[in-house]
Formats: sequence, structure tokens, C-alpha cells
Amino acid sequence: MYQILIKKGRLVDPANQKDEICDILIRDGKVQKIAPDITEAEAEVIDAAGKVVMPGLIDLHVHLREPGFEYKETIATGSRAAAHGGVTTICPMPNTNPVIDSAERVRDLLDRAKDAPVHILPVGSVTIGQAGKELADIQGMKAAGAVAISEDGKSVMDTLVYRKGLKEAARCDIPVFAHCEDKSLVDGGVMNAGKKAEELGLPGITNAVEDVIVARDILMSKEAGNRLHLCHCSTKDSALLIDMAKKQGLPVTGEVCPHHFTMSDDEITEDNGRFKMNPPLRSKEDVQALKEALRDGIMDVISTDHAPHGEEEKNQSMKKAPFGIVGIENSFALGYTELVKGGYLSLSQLVEKMSVNPAKVLGIDKGNLAEGKTADLIIADIDTEYAIDKNDFLSKGRNTPFDGKKVYGKVEVTIVDGKIVYREEA
Ligand code: DOR
Ligand code: ZN
Ligand code: ZN
Repeated sequence: MYQILIKKGRLVDPANQKDEICDILIRDGKVQKIAPDITEAEAEVIDAAGKVVMPGLIDLHVHLREPGFEYKETIATGSRAAAHGGVTTICPMPNTNPVIDSAERVRDLLDRAKDAPVHILPVGSVTIGQAGKELADIQGMKAAGAVAISEDGKSVMDTLVYRKGLKEAARCDIPVFAHCEDKSLVDGGVMNAGKKAEELGLPGITNAVEDVIVARDILMSKEAGNRLHLCHCSTKDSALLIDMAKKQGLPVTGEVCPHHFTMSDDEITEDNGRFKMNPPLRSKEDVQALKEALRDGIMDVISTDHAPHGEEEKNQSMKKAPFGIVGIENSFALGYTELVKGGYLSLSQLVEKMSVNPAKVLGIDKGNLAEGKTADLIIADIDTEYAIDKNDFLSKGRNTPFDGKKVYGKVEVTIVDGKIVYREEA
């Protein structure tokens, strides 16, 4: 019988309104006991004095690139990167090759993922091949283990096709993860439209590219009756629209990525692919609005849109580089530094956005460390400043604009199903 005893950590477990120093005994993959002082001779002891213990993070939005783009990332490297970042459950998006658009593809992905160190809950596509024409077998994918459907990387632009997909999602009771981008409005843009894009001589992506589809998706979901989760919201009007939807009592949730609340387009220092992602880094005003929306409970979830790419394809002009940055190994640090140290959220509220609320979106019993629950948890140091170093990443991707950034919040131990899957070298 394998047991771990975590001694004297500060347990931050918002699902149980806990923020206190205690001992935690883990046995047979579960939280066995939580008490002020536990003695257990048989257990592996982890001294967590001065550290925080939290439920493992749940990242609803990652790209693992397998099958089809294994030179960018594999399930093995991406899931190890997740463990490194304190992320114990990940939802890979279906824009692989082939696309995850059938029950068989979902089963194949789960089969490939069976030895991964973290839980992998796949997202199926809305249409076959993400071609936007014919609905995928949503019911079949759900039965095979898909936890959501998404056309991530683009939007289903034919609204009639989309309506059928939303209705089917409602019927199957599976959430829709919406990437909101009006394809025709992008018009060759590669970064946020504004002063910086003009300075760099680059074509811009306006806020309306996102906002019109956020509005459409809310209105269409209202009609179809599905649960709608809006991915990587980057604009102040996305927040306004989600607030409006919530005030109507609609089952709509909003997600923000760490890069969108940390960096504005002002901070783009050169025309280089490491600053390119979709949606793009927005204006200071948008960044501020997103932080306030997280604070005010309009935005529910922080996910990364971890999007690894090869070194060469990213290290070129934004005109040529693909969209996307890695993020799963520094999401907790950016959240802690920008939002907790920045005064927008308590640590407990950050854990809600990164674990409790994502679990609610999926309707799974995670993000909760009560006795008897699955022992998916992390131990982190929140007091020591350090610099993000892309060479420390376990992901194949090194494409980040945050290399060298000074942050707080380092995950030191990650435990999944009661087993240590990542531990920082002493
Ligand atoms: O930046 C992004 N990269 N945004 C997306 O929507 C897709 C993703 C990717 O697959 O690289
Ligand atoms: Zn997307
Ligand atoms: Zn994505």
C-alpha cells in the first residue's frame, strides 16, 4: 500500500472553504485524511512547511499535436509538460491530423494517452474534418469519452450548420468550447490592430473579429439550449457580452489565457513569431478589462491554449509564423503573479479559476480535496521570485514571449491519482 504524507502545508481548497495549515495523508490514490497532525510510519513524507497545497490544475484548452504533428509535441511530451506546470487534467483540442471527429478517433487518442502522467480528456470536433460542412458524430464521440466539442483553430462559419451542432450538443448534454473568430474579418491580420501593428507595418486583427462571433454564439446557444464555454476571450467587449449572457441566466462561461491578462500589444518589441497567437495580444485597455472580468466573476476559467510549434517555424516574421504559444508550464506562475500579487484575486479564487470552475464546466468530480476525493494535487512555492526559462520546459515547444520574465509561483510537486508525477530536483 503506497502512501504519501504531506506535512504542514497551507491547504488552499476553495471547494471546501479551506485555507489552513494541516497534514494530508494520501492512500490508494485518494485523499485519506486531513488533520492538524498526522503520524504514519509507512508513508513517504513530503515536508510542505511554507508551501501551498492545492487541487491539481485543470487546463481545458491545450494542443498536444498527436496524431499528425509530432515534431511540435506528442501526448507524452505535452502531458509531462502539464505535470511540470501542476496541471493534472488536460483537454486536448481536436485540430490534429487526422482531426478528432469520430468515436474511433476519440478511442485512438485515449489509447495513445493511457500511459500519460496526467488525466487526458479529449475534445471532439463539431464538424467532420473541421471542414464546417457536415456534423461529426457528437453522440458517438461523447460515448467514447469526449468531454466537449470544439472547432478550435476556427469557428464554424456556416451558422445553419453550427445551429445543428449546438442543438445536437444540447441533446447530448456536452458543452461546446467556442473559438470565436470571424474568418472573413481576419483579412490577413497577424497581430492586434492598433498603433503597434502600424509601427511594425503588420496587418491587424480588430476586436470585432472576436466580438461578433462571441455575440453570435451566445445568441445561437440561447436558441439551441446548449452549454457554451467561450475560449480564450481577449477583448473588453467579450467580457461585456458574457456579463450580459450571465445576467440572462444563460449557461455561458468565459475563459481567459494567461498571456491575454499579462501582456498587451504595447509590449511586442519586434516582429517575431513568439508574439503571435490567436486571438492576439490586445490593447492595455483590453488587458485591464480581462483582469477586472476575472475579479468580478464574469470570466470563470483560466486555460492556456498551450500551442507548441517548431523553433524554425516560429522564429520568423509574424507574417509567416503560425499562430500559438506554449503556456502549460507557466500558467500558475502568471496567474499568481499578475492576478494574486496584482490584487485582483485571492489565491483561493485563482484556484477556483484554474481547477474548481474548469471541473464544473466539464461536470467532473475534481478540483476538490475533501477526504475520499481523488488525490490530484500540487505543492507550490509562492514566495520565491524566479525567472521563466524556456530551456526548463518539458514541452517540445519553446515558443513563448515570457522567457526571462520574473514571476512568483513555482510548482514543486505534482501528484496524480496519489502518485508523484513531477517533483522539482532539490
Ligand atoms: O494561437 C492559437 N494556436 N490559437 C488557436 O486557436 C489554435 C492554436 C494552434 O492550434 O496552434
Ligand atoms: Zn482557439
Ligand atoms: Zn486553441
